Amino acid sequence: MKILILNGPSLNLLGKRNPEIYGQETLEDIEKKLLIQAKVLDIVLQFEQSNHEGELIDILQKNIDCDGIIFNPGAFTHTSIAIADAIESITTPTIEVHLSNIYAREEFRAHSYIAPVSIGQICGFGPSGYLAALTLMHERIQNNFNAKK
Ligand code: DQA
Repeated sequence: MKILILNGPSLNLLGKRNPEIYGQETLEDIEKKLLIQAKVLDIVLQFEQSNHEGELIDILQKNIDCDGIIFNPGAFTHTSIAIADAIESITTPTIEVHLSNIYAREEFRAHSYIAPVSIGQICGFGPSGYLAALTLMHERIQNNFNAKK
């Protein structure tokens, strides 16, 4: 089983970026935790991060061989029809993850273009959200529950 962990703009700055909202852990710290869990679950992980909308779409299209995608699209969550279309165009099930509770912040963050094309969304649990998404994606694929929605 192969799962893509994809992070969007400014998530490369985790640890330094608004630590009061996003916490102290770096993206590398989160990736290390995911690798430990992936080993237990016998999952191969691929990590990608980009600050560019088009590049995120290219990464999604290049990884259609993955069994699942765990994706924090950052601010593109609230703006990008192009990324939503890209997810809708591939058959790979996608879980949307956010460190913060996007519904408890500014009003513009309460709308996600990504949620309707994802199998589900996890937000507000910090780095643990990625770990929960990995467990849930694994369970879903193991159970052969591959329907996108
Ligand atoms: C975020 C929430 C977004 O609103 C924000 O633009 C981010 C991070 C999160 O993980 O909480 O970049 O996706």
